[in-house]
Amino acid sequence: MALRITVIGTGYLGATHAASLAELGFEVLGLDVVPEKIEMLGRGKVPMYEPGLEEVLRRHVAGIEGSSGRLRFTTSWEEAGEFGDVHFVCVNTPQKRGEYACDMSYVDSAIDSLAPHLRRPALVVGKSTVPVGSAERLAARLRELAPVGEGAELAWNPEFLREGFAVKDTLHPDRIVVGVASERSEKLLREVYAGPLGEGTPFVVTDFPTAELVKTAANSFLATKISFINAMAEVCEAAGGDVAKLAEAIGYDERIGHKFLRAGIGFGGGCLPKDIRAFMARAGELGADQALTFLREIDSINMRRRGEMVDMARETVGGSFLGVRVAVLGAAFKPDSDDVRDSPALNVAGQIHLQGGQVTVYDPKGMENARRLFPTLGYADSAVDAVRGADVVLHLTEWAEFRELDPVALGEVAGRRVLLDGRNALDPERWREAGWTYRAMGRPRA
Ligand code: UDX
Repeated sequence: MALRITVIGTGYLGATHAASLAELGFEVLGLDVVPEKIEMLGRGKVPMYEPGLEEVLRRHVAGIEGSSGRLRFTTSWEEAGEFGDVHFVCVNTPQKRGEYACDMSYVDSAIDSLAPHLRRPALVVGKSTVPVGSAERLAARLRELAPVGEGAELAWNPEFLREGFAVKDTLHPDRIVVGVASERSEKLLREVYAGPLGEGTPFVVTDFPTAELVKTAANSFLATKISFINAMAEVCEAAGGDVAKLAEAIGYDERIGHKFLRAGIGFGGGCLPKDIRAFMARAGELGADQALTFLREIDSINMRRRGEMVDMARETVGGSFLGVRVAVLGAAFKPDSDDVRDSPALNVAGQIHLQGGQVTVYDPKGMENARRLFPTLGYADSAVDAVRGADVVLHLTEWAEFRELDPVALGEVAGRRVLLDGRNALDPERWREAGWTYRAMGRPRA
């Protein structure tokens, strides 16, 4: 009989994972402790913006006309415990308030809530990003609380999906990494991932700590690449160089590559910033803090970029934001997402607002979340409306919609034609030809 799978936590990761497993042919039960989320998902509605996810979900949610009926949702731990042969834990591990360490309370409570309902052999698979050492601790806790005892096994299977590409990354991953303690766990996971494995996806089998570390190491490397190029941008600014050309040129070396070398206002979101901080905190606990002191620098280069964008904008408008109208294009931490968690764009907008600027923000999908987080900023319903009358325009999230804007038409509504490109993603020539002063971080003023 085909495996029955539960997915615990239905945020970006869990909702995508549940829908993708149904797409791969499994019977899936998604669980969340927030009833409103479960109610929405049960109607085939995704509680966030993620391209393509709703279509996949609607193909499988039971009760939707024409669906496979393989995907259902619940808030009941008892139902989940009875249903699943494999249980994926996909809950959030946010940064603790005022600390670098990550908050494990959602993972811990998922294990504590599920375990008492495991009465037959089951595999619990952690997908959340956790401090190294967590899997071993959770495996013991699981055995202790589950009525089936040793029959409740744990595995760790980090997730590498990117927001905006979540469905594609889940169904066609670069690699699958599993930390296992038994052959049985490995066999079950090979069965779950038979689809992608059939396409030749590499399958890396490790112990628990290595699997946990793969995820934090990968995110640290990505953060390092971005801060490296942003450090080069700072030097370019001082020396009159062009960081975009520099990135292009070094990227032709295959050992370096072109990806993740876009200079600008830096990385944000719910993963990279908190993951590198949690990694430093955990290394400290393990007595290996020296190994990761460079990550402190990666973090501080990244945070500095936001302030430098604010400084560049203030200088452009004559040294003070008082009475100045500032249009901010972008609120999400990256394009194709409505996620505003630790968004560099909103951080810059917020700083300018605090310094007296009249900020008007527009984002194609992130407006609702932005309004909730920064209710005192001004918001417009379109890029054109945001730019109307503005003394300076800041491009802070590189949506395709902004690349397609017509600089001539926009120039007619802007107060002054000054554009600061915080993402190095617009074509300087196009804007300059339309009479705009175009400036970007790490590039000559022209
Ligand atoms: C990241 C990892 O890529 C993913 O593998 C992991 O599972 C979760 O964390 P995500 O947070 O969705 O994914 O975003 P990502 O595409 O990595 O971008 C992170 C941030 O870096 C964004 O704010 C983006 O704007 C910024 N970035 C990215 C740059 O500033 N420059 C670049 O060249 C690339």
